[in-house]
Amino acid sequence: MIDALGRNIRYLRLSVTERCNLNCLYCSPAKDDPATLLKPDEIAKCVSIMVKLGVDKVRITGGEPLVRRDLEEIIAKLTAIDGIDDLPMTTNAVGLDLRIHDLVKAGISRFNISLDTLDRQRYKEITRVDGMDSVLRAVDLGLQLGVNVKLNAVLIRGVNDMDLPGFMEYVKETPVQVRFIELMPIGSYGEDNQDKVIHPEEVLAQFPELKPIGRASGGVATVYKADGMAGSIGFISPLSHAFCHECNRIRLTADGRIRPCLGDNGESDIRPYLNDEAALHKAIYDAIYHKPTGHHFQDGFASNRDMQHIGG
Ligand code: 5AD
Repeated sequence: MIDALGRNIRYLRLSVTERCNLNCLYCSPAKDDPATLLKPDEIAKCVSIMVKLGVDKVRITGGEPLVRRDLEEIIAKLTAIDGIDDLPMTTNAVGLDLRIHDLVKAGISRFNISLDTLDRQRYKEITRVDGMDSVLRAVDLGLQLGVNVKLNAVLIRGVNDMDLPGFMEYVKETPVQVRFIELMPIGSYGEDNQDKVIHPEEVLAQFPELKPIGRASGGVATVYKADGMAGSIGFISPLSHAFCHECNRIRLTADGRIRPCLGDNGESDIRPYLNDEAALHKAIYDAIYHKPTGHHFQDGFASNRDMQHIGG
């Protein structure tokens, strides 16, 4: 549907849990409240209405979606909804190697895998879990199955900037896109983390062989490649290259709130309307219609929620 500012909202980021099996330096684990966690049929009810309103892409996020026990049931309910063309999942992929076949069979169209380093020891330091081998196995299996896999790395000065050459080596040989994401002022480093943010220009200066080849993901990522590279490098830069004016996303949190903008604390609780179809429709419509103009990351924004509540 078209919001008040003329943006065509068609991409739902659906957080199915706030829990995570990792405990990353820049994020922190949370718990689901059983009293407010949306059940599979409640999720399906909300998503059906959103699809009627024009949503055709639903990304499953968390927390970490793989820790939700009834994930398969949620996916089955989503695939039964007519009108969803794309059903990707964002995951840290620890343990995905054991489930990827079933998830693809269930209807997951592709995976964005959060992987901030390719160095096993550093992976352990960042995530506090020795899980990198499982993640890389999942990437290989995904490629074998022919599903699209992208790697997302949040670049953080002093934490993983030394891994840039490792990522470059990896994409030289592996046909995946590695996307470097700017660290947003949400999470353990607090609002005052500007010194840790690495902008694309800094990476491009270090690797002049990278040449622009276009934009991807609805214009959100700029993509680069070097001659002979099997994969590619993308940049998602919500701070230095904000895409708010063409943002087509909304978010539904695991506890039933619509948060139309990551960088704006406005949320609508739709749980009170779950048993009244018309009221639910109106609540969802209103929340989407009034999606904020843009994020406030550059104006001392303090998020009322951490990333594991929102799902990126
Ligand atoms: N800035 C940017 N990305 C973040 N993520 C978590 N916290 C931040 C942050 N402050 C990323 C995770 C994961 C995705 C869902 O969000 O690394 O890739």
